[in-house]
Amino acid sequence: MVEEIREIVQRFERIGAHSHIRGLGLDENLRAKDVADGLVGQKKAREAAGVIVRMIKSGKMAGRGILMAGPPGTGKTAIAVAISKELGKDIPFVQASASEFYSAEMKKTEALIQYMRKAIGVRIREIKTVLEGEVTGLDYNMVPNPYNPTQKIPESANLTLSTKDEKKTFSVGTRIALQFFQYGIQVGDVIMIDKATGKISYLGKSEKSAKKYDIGDADIVEVPSGRIEKEKEFTYVVTLHDLDEMNARRTSIFSLFTSESKEIDSEIREAVDEQVKKWVEEGRAELVPGVLFIDETHLMDIELFAFMNRAMESEMAPIIILASNRGFSRIRGTDISAPHGIPLDLLDRLLIITTEPYKKEDIRTILEIRSAESGIMLSESALDKLTEIGVENSMRYAVQLLAPAYEFSKLRNSGKVELEDVERAESIFADVTQSSSYLRKWEEKLISS
Ligand SMILES: Nc1ncnc2c1ncn2[C@@H]1O[C@H](COP(=O)(O)OP(=O)(O)OP(=O)(O)O)[C@@H](O)[C@H]1O
Ligand SMILES: [Mg+2]
Repeated sequence: MVEEIREIVQRFERIGAHSHIRGLGLDENLRAKDVADGLVGQKKAREAAGVIVRMIKSGKMAGRGILMAGPPGTGKTAIAVAISKELGKDIPFVQASASEFYSAEMKKTEALIQYMRKAIGVRIREIKTVLEGEVTGLDYNMVPNPYNPTQKIPESANLTLSTKDEKKTFSVGTRIALQFFQYGIQVGDVIMIDKATGKISYLGKSEKSAKKYDIGDADIVEVPSGRIEKEKEFTYVVTLHDLDEMNARRTSIFSLFTSESKEIDSEIREAVDEQVKKWVEEGRAELVPGVLFIDETHLMDIELFAFMNRAMESEMAPIIILASNRGFSRIRGTDISAPHGIPLDLLDRLLIITTEPYKKEDIRTILEIRSAESGIMLSESALDKLTEIGVENSMRYAVQLLAPAYEFSKLRNSGKVELEDVERAESIFADVTQSSSYLRKWEEKLISS
């Protein structure tokens, strides 16, 4: 039996604005449906993305990348998110803006390689010996807390576990007893204990105890059958970067959850790669190449491009999706002008998907989907106004006005956004073009005075 015990940690997931997107919304023939999986219109781009998903799945994208090109707010990021959703739920999806590669903390190429390795998963299989069953008896031996004598804590416990076929009582020490106490494990809970580490996992309530306490059926699990002690296979996904960090610090798995970032020696990376290859050969692990999405590509300079070009050839490279809303622009670090500010040798490796400005009806539908996703009710006139703003300013601006407009509707003690709420939000929040031209006017004034 295979169980997922941990889904991939997506610390760089900033897809709040795209939470309504579940996939590309294509039919079996890879034709885009009008509205599906949260996506609207933009059919050519979605169909192209569908072909790419198939190429990725059949390993035909190795050494190649994707460029999403289109004006601001036309769904470049949205489609990249949809691609990752189509690839599967434990596929790493890492989003970065090219500006994040430049920091005082580390070299820019180091930052890029770290992002690339965050986008490659390693699915590890592990056989563990576990104790699994329903808790049918739990007696704590309580003692005063050494740090606070007014409290009592368990010093040890007698635990009875039952499956359908077996019943056993164990005496457990302080560490495990404390876990039971802290998690509030009770008789009637179905649990699993990792024998090697003593870690407890709560699986749910048994049917019998659920009936007794009349809880909802969300949590109910069947009481396991067979032996209490058994071997189970677990799979989980970690990223190459997680393994790099673990090796760099040689500390516990908890270091995975600190966000402190440092440069990592290339020897450490080589050792990790060797180890992973060995696991793969032994059938204990599988590589799961994910997606690295890089926004604002024009901010990458010639050195980063050269580095990325080389890295894309390595067998441990993620799928790279670049996004650009620039036409011809200077390649940073050179005097050369190139399409999207990307060097030609890299452009040669890229499949290009273009996104087009939205039609009015599409904008309206996207606004409807976004408001439903955020649980915001819109009156007809409010939706008309937002659509108009989307057409005249930008869709992103219209989407962003939803939340403040909702706050204003609540101030009126109404849960429904009306025209007046949208107008009030529009009057105090600026669109980027408004805010940047406002600042430019000030700059001009300062320079001329
Ligand atoms: N075809 C679509 N269907 C549904 N929602 C969409 C679609 N296109 C864009 N959106 C939503 O509209 C908003 C703006 O789109 P998005 O951020 O993807 O644009 P972008 O092209 O990446 O813009 P930028 O160049 O500014 O980065 C997001 O909330 C996005 O999820
Ligand atoms: Mg974007």
